[in-house]
This record gives sequence, structure tokens and C-alpha cells, in this order.
Amino acid sequence: MNSESGCIPEKLSSVFIIFGATGDLTRRKLMSALYNLVSDDLLPKNFVIIAIGRQDKTTDQYREEVLAAIIKYSRNKVDPKIWQKLSSMIIYHKFDFKDLDEYVVLKSFIRKVEKDNCTEGNRVFYLAVAPLYFETIVEGIQKGKLNEDCSGFCRCVIEKPFGKNLETATKLNESILKVFSEKNIYRIDHYLGKDMIQNIMVLRFCNSVFESIWDNKHIDNIQISLTEELGIGSRANYYEQSGAMRDMFQNHIMQIMSLVAMEPPVNLNMDSIRNEKQKVLESIEEISDEFLKKNVIFGQYGEGIIHGEKVSAYRDEENVNHVSETETFVALKMHINNFRWAGVPFYIRTGKRLGTTSGEIIVQFKDLPNTLYYKENRVKQPNLLILHIQPNVGVFFQFNTKDFTTHNDIVPAKMDTSSFIPDQGNTPEAYERLIHDILRGDASLFSRWDEVESAWAIADRIIKYREQMKIDLPNYKAGSMGPQRAFDLIEKDGRNWITV
Ligand code: BG6
Repeated sequence: MNSESGCIPEKLSSVFIIFGATGDLTRRKLMSALYNLVSDDLLPKNFVIIAIGRQDKTTDQYREEVLAAIIKYSRNKVDPKIWQKLSSMIIYHKFDFKDLDEYVVLKSFIRKVEKDNCTEGNRVFYLAVAPLYFETIVEGIQKGKLNEDCSGFCRCVIEKPFGKNLETATKLNESILKVFSEKNIYRIDHYLGKDMIQNIMVLRFCNSVFESIWDNKHIDNIQISLTEELGIGSRANYYEQSGAMRDMFQNHIMQIMSLVAMEPPVNLNMDSIRNEKQKVLESIEEISDEFLKKNVIFGQYGEGIIHGEKVSAYRDEENVNHVSETETFVALKMHINNFRWAGVPFYIRTGKRLGTTSGEIIVQFKDLPNTLYYKENRVKQPNLLILHIQPNVGVFFQFNTKDFTTHNDIVPAKMDTSSFIPDQGNTPEAYERLIHDILRGDASLFSRWDEVESAWAIADRIIKYREQMKIDLPNYKAGSMGPQRAFDLIEKDGRNWITV
């Protein structure tokens, strides 16, 4: 029982304070995720969303906007009863988060909301703002002592990008650590909220058929391919500073690679998992200029055709510098130098304005000797295990079998559990899982600082190399699958990018 208010807060009763409530992320992802959490009865009874924005509007006006967004973006059709429940949880609060002196007043507001709604004890601060405001808000939280009287938890959620390089990420981290302990910092990488990314561990550690051959004795190469038809839309200001390396490689790709290559954790506790992922990043082969010269390709899209429509070159997109050197594509080969993976190449590619939108992890197994069935001219197909992340979600497995129609041919059988789930992108679904985990205090699907740090150290090395290079850009057509040299990169090893 709370002595001042006389109410008994539930265990996870919380105020969920969103900085950036009128921004794109909140509108498109967070509110739909919260709606579906209400629908699935996964939010505590006493739960209040304080939506902080700089615009002048009433709570009723804001609720109307949220409803319109949920109708547009939610995976579930809006049920008036569920909406009513969510709507009553939302309070819009006009506040200029740059004004550090005002955070004391914000604290009084939060305290009042907590008392009125019996949520005392737990606060989540969700920073859904442009990265340049992360430090300001955290400083404000400290100055207004917003994090000091949580009798339960006080958690801080930070969207990506977490810094622009190792130096700025370290500085940002130090600022946050002055206010929140590591266990209360939730660094979002929305890929970790995707079903198939979580399924990597399940497939590996629940199936003896896979885990017993998950090593350099049996695997020929692994490919991680995240391709997008979309261009940069209205995000030029961000993307010009970021490029594919910072936007996709440093975070999503490094996280996927760690999950694919890690050793089995001793248990499923968040730190046991994150310790194993971190070891993978520490084992990545040293990246010298000599190595990069042979193993990395950067690209930028020129104009082209996608779905029959002409699309502009990157340099002609709104707000992009006409001589921009920003890479919209990267392909590279990496090695993990440990006992399990020595000698197995990891081929990675990601880019915008490519011919397909898809996310895949492809495991190609080693061939058996040709002595029995492949002496003649038969074309041998490799065993493949493909984890379809999106838009198809599921597992594909290819193995060789006798062709019963011809009696003597050998054909690849393709088993595929995937189904087309168009919304497996940067979706509310991933955010539902992540928000629920934040409330439950499970940070397994969030990046720990040492992971972010190691990933930046690797990305910085590659970015520095690119900055010194003179590349003739653009070097691929929108709608193609990237520069020719990305194909050469893998073909010179006698392999190819696998698509099925
Ligand atoms: C984001 C990047 O992190 O991931 C975007 O900033 C990219 O540029 C997006 O488009 C891809 O996410 P998803 O979930 O759509 O594959």
C-alpha cells in the first residue's frame, strides 16, 4: 500500500514517458505496439503513457492522431473497446525537452500522474527523438532528478543510432551511465525483436541435427543478406551522415552475426547470452587495409527502375549532396577466428534500392566427395539451410534425393516452412516484444554496451578505410542487386550469392 495515495500499485504498474511523442517512430511503431499489447492483455492494469511533444495540442487532439496512426499501421484491426482502454492511458504533455530547467516541473507533473493513477514506483523513459537530443534529455532527467525516487524501476530506452562512431558512442554511454545503471539501459536494435532472429537460437540449440554440424568441419560459408527496395525516403539528413555501414552493418548485421556464430550460453539469462555474443565480436579477424582492399565493396545507387517505375539516383534524392560519397550498399567477407569458425567465410551484403526486399541468413554446407554419385556430368546442389527473416518468415532446407520420375537422376528437395508475412519489417510486432521485455526487465534482446563498443570498433575501421578511398559513384542501378564487384567478391572464391 502506498502511504500517501492509499492505493496498492500492481507489480509492473508504470508510467511510460515517451520523449518525441509526435515523431514518426511513436506514430508508426510505438503506439501500434502499445495498442496490441493492450489487446493481448500484456500491460499492467495501472499503466499511463505520458506522451511528451513540443507541439501545442490537447490530450484529446493527440489521442485522435494516435487513433488515425493505429488504424493505418497496426497489425490488428482497431476494436473500439481496446482503443478506449489504450486511449484512457494516454496523456499528452507539451514540454520543450531542450529546456533543462523545466525538468523539475516535469517531475512534479509525473509525480501527480503517478499518484492519480496508482502507478508509483516504476518509470520508463523512452527516447524516441533524433539522436542529437539523447544526451540533452538524459542530462535533463538527471537535473530534474526524475530517476531518483523510483521505488521500483527507472529504465531508459535509447533508439539507434547509438553514436556515430566509437568515440561519440562512448561519450553518449558515459553520459547515460551517470544517470542510469547498465542494467537499466535498453539500447534498441529492432532486429532482435523479429521472430526469425529470436529463432536463430531456438533452431541451433533445440535441434541436434543442426547444432552438431554447426562448425567449420561441416559448413562451407554463411551469408547474411539484408536487401531493400526502398530508398532513403525523407531521411536524407540522417542517412547522409550514416550510410549503410552505420545504418545496418554496425548494429543489425553485427547482432545477427553474433547470434549465428556464438557458443551455446550456459543458460538463457540475459547476460549469459550477451557474454557469448560479445565473444564472437571479439573473435572477428583483424581488419587491415590490405584485408579490406580485397574483401569489401561499397556502392551507391544511380537511377533505375523498380516495379516498373523510374526512381532517382541517390544523389538526386531530396536533401542529398549532389556529389555525395555516402554508401548505400556494402558487401564484405569476414572471418571469425576461433576454433568453431576458423576458415569459414561470412559474406555480408546490405543495401538500398536493390531488386528485392528480403532478409536472409544462408548456411551452405560442405559438399561430400564426388566419388559415388557425381562422377559424371550431374550438377551437384549443396545442402542449404536458409533462415528467412522477411518478408517470408520461416526455414528452408535443401537436400539431395533420388528423382522418382526418372529413376536415376538426383534432384534437390526443398523443404520450406516459410510464409509471406509482409509486415515483418521495422514493425510494431518487433516493438511489441521489445516494449514487453522492457517492462518485464528482460534485456536479452537489447544490446549491452560492450557489444555496441566492439561493433563500433569494427565498423569504424571499415568506415575509415572507405573515407580514404576514391570510388566512382554511383556504381549500381536502382533495381539491380548492387555493384558488379560485389558479385566478383564472392565469385572469385568459387561461390555465389544464394537466392532461392
Ligand atoms: C533501420 C534503418 O534500422 O532498419 C533503415 O535505419 C532500414 O534504414 C531499417 O530501412 C530496415 O528495417 P526492416 O525491419 O524494415 O528490415
